[in-house]
Amino acid sequence: MATNWNPESWKSHEAKHLPVYPDAAKLAEVEGTLSNFPPLVFAGEARALKADLAEVAAGKGFLLQGGDCAESFAEFHPNTIRDTFRVLLQMAVVLTFASKQPVVKVGRMAGQFAKPRSSPVEVVDGVELPSYLGDNINGIEFTPEQRIPDPDRMLKAYSQSAATLNLLRAFSSGGYANLRQVHKWTLDFMGRSPWADKFSEMADRIGEALDFMEACGVNPSSVPQLQGTSFYTSHEALLLPYEQAMTRQDSLTGDWYDCSAHMLWIGDRTRFEGSAHVEFLRGVGNPLGMKCGPSLTPDVLLRTLDLLNPAREAGRITLISRFGHDKVEAGLAPLVRAVAREGHPVVWSCDPMHGNVIKSDSGYKTRPFDRILAEVRGFFAVHRAEGTHAGGIHIEMTGKDVTECIGGGVAITDEALADRYHTHCDPRLNAAQSLELAFLLAEELNREAAVRTRRAA
Ligand code: TRP
Ligand code: MN
Repeated sequence: MATNWNPESWKSHEAKHLPVYPDAAKLAEVEGTLSNFPPLVFAGEARALKADLAEVAAGKGFLLQGGDCAESFAEFHPNTIRDTFRVLLQMAVVLTFASKQPVVKVGRMAGQFAKPRSSPVEVVDGVELPSYLGDNINGIEFTPEQRIPDPDRMLKAYSQSAATLNLLRAFSSGGYANLRQVHKWTLDFMGRSPWADKFSEMADRIGEALDFMEACGVNPSSVPQLQGTSFYTSHEALLLPYEQAMTRQDSLTGDWYDCSAHMLWIGDRTRFEGSAHVEFLRGVGNPLGMKCGPSLTPDVLLRTLDLLNPAREAGRITLISRFGHDKVEAGLAPLVRAVAREGHPVVWSCDPMHGNVIKSDSGYKTRPFDRILAEVRGFFAVHRAEGTHAGGIHIEMTGKDVTECIGGGVAITDEALADRYHTHCDPRLNAAQSLELAFLLAEELNREAAVRTRRAA
């Protein structure tokens, strides 16, 4: 267990990107209520995820992490959850089938509500208001009342997370994720994508493999692994009053766990030395992610790793790089080298979204799909050169047929962005773009495996 740590020791550290609640009594009341609610996840599940990630850190597997940039109260609907889940299943099946490696599936779901913003205020037509910070803090509508941080929103976020997680658990173990259903995960509107055909061919081959195995006496009722999958949840641990209220001491081990999700990550803006967010997360036993951007130096990274994972437990830390398509090769290599030299067992994952945001000519914030793919290729190139494992992908995506990122097999143009631009925060990949990315990842994983075989020979 971490030394000199308790669930509120973060309060004596520098906290950035936390809201100031005008009603302190109300905040305390909500924190008290939340701390008596049932945990959303069980510590044993967080340990199971850590064990799965330890395999990935050892080069045997791949982490697939994805979901909305920000979940919202307004878009809370079972179909939205189902559609995001099915795209993740499709991506997972492509990656598993093509790379012959297990895929660890983690949603940016059931708790991803709080957002760090580049500016604390937003100005529209000369009117200045506090920025929108995510639905668990304030409202997106541009009015003075909506932008006041309201502690009650945490209770609503808790209940939406509980209902989302409940549905995800039902889907992953109740038959929806059965490998025999592989054809049914394709969304209707995907028919237009060339990648839907490629997926359909792969699904046929999986069906044949299952038929063959069934003839040999192996089927979903005799082998539970075919019947369902493990699906974990994650979000950025930004809103510390909420995370603290969800933190419990595990009755089996006595260790502390943040039971708001299986995995929590620290953002690029809150991972600085001395940060309250780092202080809070070092004391909980969950697997942790940390975003690594261009401003992170190898020295600070190593010191932060020593703080977050002094025992060097494999599976504890996932480093999520987010450099931008033109900076990844030069920026990532020194970090990878430093971590390998010091022998820290980490999963390296690639966030190709956050370093590739541009303002389009039509005025929308967007991410060109070719830059996203270029960052992924650069990420794999660095790991091939360093002899390390490209262990995962972290994406903002949705199962909805949105038009938020330009490009892809069903080319979305700058003019088309206005058609269906729905995100509460950053532009997301749509279902067809996500599937296209999965095929690229599978190809890159096979290149890595070929290099490994050649080096071993
Ligand atoms: N249980 C295995 C796994 O999760 C196989 C599996 C079942 C699967 N349903 C799936 C794989 C859906 C990917 C997608 O890997
Ligand atoms: Mn985002």
